[in-house]
Amino acid sequence: MTVKVRKYRLLACLIASAMIPMTGCEKTSATGRQSINTLDAAKQEYRNGIDSLSALLVQADSAFNNPNDSVRVRSLFQQARRQFKHGEFLTEYFAGGIAAKMNGPDLLEWDEDEVGGPPEQPEGFQVWEGLLYPAYRIETRDAMRAQVRRLQARVNYLKMYVDSRKFEEASYFDALMQETVRITTKGLSGFDSPIALFSLTESAEALEGVRSAFAVAYGKALEKTSAPQARLLDSSFRATIHVLRSAKNFDAFDRTEFLVRNLNPLCFQLRVAQRALRIALPTDLRALKPGFATVFDSGLFDPWSFAPENIPDSLKESRRELGRLLFFDPILSGNGKRACASCHHPERAFTDGLARSTGFNGAGAPLRNAPTLLNAALQSRYFSDLAVIYLEDQATQVLRSEREMHAVPHDIVRRIKESPEYARLFQKAFPGAQDSTEKSDLQMRQALAAYVRSLVALNAPFDKTLRGEAFAMSPEALRGFNLFMGKAKCATCHFPPLFNGTVPPEYTESEKEVIGVTEGPHFRKARLDKDPGRYGVVSVAGNIGAVKTPTLRNVALTAPYMHNGAFGTLREVVEFYNAGGGAGLGLDVPGQTLPSDSLRLNTQEVSDLVAFLGALTDTTGTTGRPERLPEFPEQPEMSHRKIGGKY
Ligand code: HEC
Ligand code: HEC
Repeated sequence: MTVKVRKYRLLACLIASAMIPMTGCEKTSATGRQSINTLDAAKQEYRNGIDSLSALLVQADSAFNNPNDSVRVRSLFQQARRQFKHGEFLTEYFAGGIAAKMNGPDLLEWDEDEVGGPPEQPEGFQVWEGLLYPAYRIETRDAMRAQVRRLQARVNYLKMYVDSRKFEEASYFDALMQETVRITTKGLSGFDSPIALFSLTESAEALEGVRSAFAVAYGKALEKTSAPQARLLDSSFRATIHVLRSAKNFDAFDRTEFLVRNLNPLCFQLRVAQRALRIALPTDLRALKPGFATVFDSGLFDPWSFAPENIPDSLKESRRELGRLLFFDPILSGNGKRACASCHHPERAFTDGLARSTGFNGAGAPLRNAPTLLNAALQSRYFSDLAVIYLEDQATQVLRSEREMHAVPHDIVRRIKESPEYARLFQKAFPGAQDSTEKSDLQMRQALAAYVRSLVALNAPFDKTLRGEAFAMSPEALRGFNLFMGKAKCATCHFPPLFNGTVPPEYTESEKEVIGVTEGPHFRKARLDKDPGRYGVVSVAGNIGAVKTPTLRNVALTAPYMHNGAFGTLREVVEFYNAGGGAGLGLDVPGQTLPSDSLRLNTQEVSDLVAFLGALTDTTGTTGRPERLPEFPEQPEMSHRKIGGKY
């Protein structure tokens, strides 16, 4: 399989350069008053769609009266979900809570604020899907009818909610763009149709919804402003929807080709149209910057959206500089021999190659495997058990831990400030701040956090390929990406393009999962790992063994794998998934969220997946160590500090 990427390069560049001034575009709309009316029309169309959905649910409810009519029930299921998909861009954007009830995963949900309470039962389309596919069983009729009635209740609520809302132009257009991200990252992976695998035709319907919403709200205005642009956009919509509609086979559908040829160029066209119409961009701080055209563009993800506060760029830079020195300085540890870099080596994408890092002065090893710090800032929580919300708080635990750096943060800060060079760097990074130990402790952590936030590198061969810039992936890796997005279901947890559990398109929440990781790679005598995971932090039953979904970026450099370092190679990891995780291996894994049936991947497919993971390596600008550490003129013994620590 070869993908003809090159010829799109020019188009992508032209469009990208046309886009640059967009972030500064005027707030007033060229469509003026008229646009407000057309937005009302768009809202009416959406509202009509909800009525149609409601009518389909009424029909479905009565279809159960004839229990043998499986064809009709299935047809109504498909029509109803397609209708949901048609309006998905607005339902998800403006009423995410209702959307989650209507089309959320078929899994129990545990409220972390109610320890001891019962789980919430799943409901909606995916539950109905699970009752209706792969085989129709007459005995599930009542359960199905109950789901249809739940859906009807949600739809009624949605109607009330929509009637009480006014759409604003910037957010309306943003909703359209977010839907393109939803299709790219979730629609193509079968995220919400895990059993029937209708995701491609349903994505076509979601895109059809975007197309008709655009046409109603902006079609005439664009025609007036730029008729050629309107035609280009329209033909791009048609072609892209056509490819999705005519996809024959979920597994075989060529995602790379589709993204590079169809969906990405369409997204660029939408941005060009936005610019022509002078529709404003949202102005809030987000992980995915509001001006994006596709999620694969460079420089789009902003780790500062996860920070407790945003600061001017010049301060980010001076804090990063200070943080980088601190990261490599063993002065941060109790024995002056260990630095952050002792366990996070920049040459290994900030891991250390060990299942468990070396402990402090003969104390036991830390309990978990040291994870990569590259792109780690793009998460809403840190550590395997998601115990920490801000990077600013992450260091406290490591510094104090007897197994790790065993230091008293206040003492360290006092020592650091004895270096005039460090004192100056603190001054520069925190201008005007009072000098106190308390403050300096926080500042040290803020500087380390700024450094970790600078470790974002999203320019791997995969990115270049998806941007249409280069043929940067081998045929094996391209097949592997397709498996990752399709048959192997990896992307339903590791969302592209970050490949972690930070959920698109909002990117505000990082997910945890129960996959039943074993103690080691010996599957025949497998034993379940004993780490309680998130349960150790919040003890609701669903958290037992639940761990954060980590990024797969640079995973070729970060062996061994999993929070316990159980697997030495990526092949072992893929074989673990191929078997259906812990439960698939026959272990008792309460609440495993990974499906336990085998993926039925053959040897070639396992190799293809491994090849794909190898295309996620980009460490540009992150591998260097500082050439020197700040001096302590009055303490000659300090000049022997080893950059990055002794061990
Ligand atoms: C002794 C080894 C060791 C040292 C030293 C160390 N770390 Fe870590 N680091 C780890 C381990 C192990 C984890 C995973 C902990 C967990 O998941 O519970 C981790 C996790 C992290 C994370 C969270 C990553 C994620 O994706 O959740 C960050 C950020 C981090 N370390 C930064 C630092 C900084 C900054 C320092 C220096 C102040 C440091 N580490 C020192 C071993 C170490
Ligand atoms: C149900 C969600 C889910 C699915 C599906 C899933 N993963 Fe994971 N993945 C996780 C979680 C959670 C972890 C962390 C496990 C741990 O730390 O113990 C993980 C860890 C990994 C790691 C180790 C990363 C590291 O740095 O240690 C790799 C590699 C990986 N997954 C690849 C894949 C591939 C390939 C697939 C598809 C065959 C896949 N995953 C499917 C949730 C999932």
